[in-house]
Amino acid sequence: MIYAENILGLIGKTPLVKLNKLTKGIKALVLAKMESLNPGGSVKDRIGISMIDAAEREGRLRPGGTVVEATSGNTGIGIALVCAVRGYKAVFVMTDKCSVEKVRYLKALGSDVVVVPVSAKPDSPDHYVNTARRIAKETPNSIFVFQYGNPFNPEAHYRTTGPEIWEQTEGRVTHFVAGVGTGGTISGAGRYLKEVKPDIKVIGADPYGSVFKTFKEAGKLMEATPYLVEGIGQEIIPENVHMKYIDRIINVTDRDSFHIARRLGREEGIFCGGSTGTIAWAALQVARDLDKDDVVVFIVCDTGERYLSKFLSDEWMKEKRMLGVEKITVGLLNQLKQDEATPRLVSVGPERQVGEALQMMNSYGLSQLPVIEEGKSVGSLREGRLMGKLLANRDLVQAPVSEVMEKGFPIVNEDIGVETAAKYLKNSPAILVEEYGRIVGIITRYDVLDAQP
Ligand SMILES: Cc1ncc(COP(=O)(O)O)c(C=O)c1O
Repeated sequence: MIYAENILGLIGKTPLVKLNKLTKGIKALVLAKMESLNPGGSVKDRIGISMIDAAEREGRLRPGGTVVEATSGNTGIGIALVCAVRGYKAVFVMTDKCSVEKVRYLKALGSDVVVVPVSAKPDSPDHYVNTARRIAKETPNSIFVFQYGNPFNPEAHYRTTGPEIWEQTEGRVTHFVAGVGTGGTISGAGRYLKEVKPDIKVIGADPYGSVFKTFKEAGKLMEATPYLVEGIGQEIIPENVHMKYIDRIINVTDRDSFHIARRLGREEGIFCGGSTGTIAWAALQVARDLDKDDVVVFIVCDTGERYLSKFLSDEWMKEKRMLGVEKITVGLLNQLKQDEATPRLVSVGPERQVGEALQMMNSYGLSQLPVIEEGKSVGSLREGRLMGKLLANRDLVQAPVSEVMEKGFPIVNEDIGVETAAKYLKNSPAILVEEYGRIVGIITRYDVLDAQP
């Protein structure tokens, strides 16, 4: 019979797979190291077990103990698997930037999750690492794993990931490309590969906004700016980032990262997270200048399942202006208003009382209101002129809207661009958006001003 003693026996020994479509025009062999096939779905399974094993060996973690860690999710999942098998309690601190799928995944594995704001800076007590450290201090029989400085993070990759790549490529790997989060993967596997092949090139992929590239090139720590890719990049240089094993760092935008990650799924069947997109983009850039004897290996960090509500959702991509932004249509503008407190279309029927319409305008803070009957525009109310009429004749408050309304706002189809819409707004305070013959929304001058970069 062939079976593992428990789930932890399935960690590592992940296969390599060749890219075939994204490599059009590239002579070098580009291979993906499928870390997403680990039982917890990410490269971090390797360090979960190695850091816990070390804590047990050193007597820091005793039976019934609690494991506390600061994580963007994947390390948490790797640790949670060990805790489930060995009976430890697990508490993870994550930022609110991380996908909800990761939080639910950790809870499903029996862990507790504390979410803190991503805006908390490294020197703030609310920063996720400081919060995790404090929880560990306050919890008896607990350890704070601290993947950013724990030597058994890079050690796991030195002992397993590096040798696997070496053996699987029969020593022919010439370029190794990985992301840099804690630095564990690149420092550990990079160190091993450089020991066995000193002229191998180790390349880090880093989101624009993260500090690694300028630190590597100019020795300066710049101020980090926000980016959307999860799990890689930093505001500070973690202890586990050993620059001496890294030859070069390539910056990649969120847009390029997400587009390549989506293409990996669609064109190669490699369903992966956004950080894999960052890494694959850098790997392809490197590969473009190489020859047919070169072999590029890059890391597929995790599976796409934990990003279905994020960059793998068209709506999310549109909201972030990363899909089809060449043309912002009034339809898209109308959709993007959906989260706000005001419904997309506040309107009134022609038979309703003027007083009622005024109340609606007041409560939603609107200065105009379309009059709609059976999905069709039949007129409009505009605050200034309506007030003028009411001042002249107070009894009009009781009258039906049809008695005081003016001509309707211009109607445009949902697929016209905002630039065209802006022309209508020169003479009208608002325009109505029509989809399949029905009025579905209203766009005001403010909406268009907000949308234009
Ligand atoms: C999704 C994802 N990709 C990549 C990484 C980076 O790996 P490392 O921490 O080994 O540098 C992480 C680590 O947090 C991650 O969560």
